[in-house]
Amino acid sequence: MSTLTKPILVVGSLNMDLVVTVAELPQKGETIFGKTFTTFPGGKGGNQAVTAAKLGSKVTMVGAVGRDEFGERLRCSLSQSGVGTSYISLAETSTGTALITVDQRGANSIVVVPGANYACCQQDIDSALEAAEVPGILLVQNEIPETIVEYTIRAAKGKGWTTILNPAPARLISEGLLSMIDILIPNETEASVLTGGKAGAEDEAAQVLLDRGAAAVIITLGSKGALCCTVEQKQQILPYKVDAVDTTAAGDAYVGALATALAEGKTVLESAKFAAAVAAIAVTRPGAQPSLPWRDEVDEFIRKQEGQQ
Ligand code: RIB
Repeated sequence: MSTLTKPILVVGSLNMDLVVTVAELPQKGETIFGKTFTTFPGGKGGNQAVTAAKLGSKVTMVGAVGRDEFGERLRCSLSQSGVGTSYISLAETSTGTALITVDQRGANSIVVVPGANYACCQQDIDSALEAAEVPGILLVQNEIPETIVEYTIRAAKGKGWTTILNPAPARLISEGLLSMIDILIPNETEASVLTGGKAGAEDEAAQVLLDRGAAAVIITLGSKGALCCTVEQKQQILPYKVDAVDTTAAGDAYVGALATALAEGKTVLESAKFAAAVAAIAVTRPGAQPSLPWRDEVDEFIRKQEGQQ
């Protein structure tokens, strides 16, 4: 790793994913048979931290787990991937869980029970920011309390960090907070919620969010790629074509990879292209954290794809 590479701090959730595969997602009131049941380390914060660390970034995570087996497995998954875990606290509630159903095309539905994620505390955030030698890239998502998300962004911005909010699950953001966000990364549904469902196409939603203060907006569009927007330019990032097995954590792979590329000094557009490759690999394998690729695999994937063009 180059000494010029910036550190990444992730403040967010850690969940054990309880995953059932099915032919089709159940309708309301319907009982169906599942095919398999597996547990995978997940949580949007944990997935983003693991992605960036496996890609070679220096990553620290702030979060909380319970004093239970799930919490222990989540901490192990972080450290095995190279994520710093000094600021993962032990809460008196159970570790967060996510109940996930994945259909035969890789689409999913997710219900999160936050548990210990709501014990993520300001003191750990202050200590982690203080411990960094230089300001780096901050990643936050919405699976921790709103007050903590807001506190983190303000504290990091005040210390010169680049702030990235992945507003998942979606909740409204004040203009005051939006103006402290360097890059906002919602998916299509989240962008619609953030704009009150009033903006039509994605480029309109992105414009509304830029007008309200975000410095850059990247709307992820699943198999359609992403739309990358700043005040100066709007550009569609084309997706890589792969056979999706499980789309869980694709968005997290995208966000974590974007942070790695930015930390290495790439532009937002270059970073968005790199992130698309990482997300494409992640959807070809089941589960959240086990599906996230190491750097060598990503470099090889990009080389092969470029060779085919
Ligand atoms: O983004 C995917 C993640 O969302 C899963 O790992 C699950 O834990 C939920 O947080």
